[in-house]
Amino acid sequence: MPKPHFLIINGPNLNLLGRRQPEIYGDRTFESFYEDLKAHFHKVIIAYYQSNHEGDIIDQLQHYGFRRDGFLLDGIILNAAAYTHTSIAIGDTLAAISTPVVEVHISDVYNREDYRKVNYLKAHVDHQIVGKGLAGYAEAIEWLLGYHMYDIS
Ligand code: DQA
Repeated sequence: MPKPHFLIINGPNLNLLGRRQPEIYGDRTFESFYEDLKAHFHKVIIAYYQSNHEGDIIDQLQHYGFRRDGFLLDGIILNAAAYTHTSIAIGDTLAAISTPVVEVHISDVYNREDYRKVNYLKAHVDHQIVGKGLAGYAEAIEWLLGYHMYDIS
């Protein structure tokens, strides 16, 4: 069996993890967490992309959201950050693509400001994980492995 292959897409300001409101998002950089994540899931391939730009996130979703040249990602883990609450465009892309998507939020968006309860993505993703800190990304990979019934033990 080829190694399962996943892509994490992080949206705006998530490049500031570790420096950004640590009381909400923790004091770890994503890069440091990503190294541990890859070591933990050494039997799978985990790629990582971050952008502060809505259109770039849409381009990535379009590029990896469909089977091309026989290649299909096993899943996308998407934290669209603030675009979650504003972007009909990213919602439309998620509705269009066929790769399974898990939406992750580090903080509990349902217990913060009311505007964070607005979500244009949720209806178009396969699963949602909120409020579990960075561990939510690991849970998303576990969920996708279960979705495909992959056994990497
Ligand atoms: C976030 C929650 C969003 O409301 C916020 O705009 C972010 C991060 C999270 O991971 O908790 O930038 O997606």
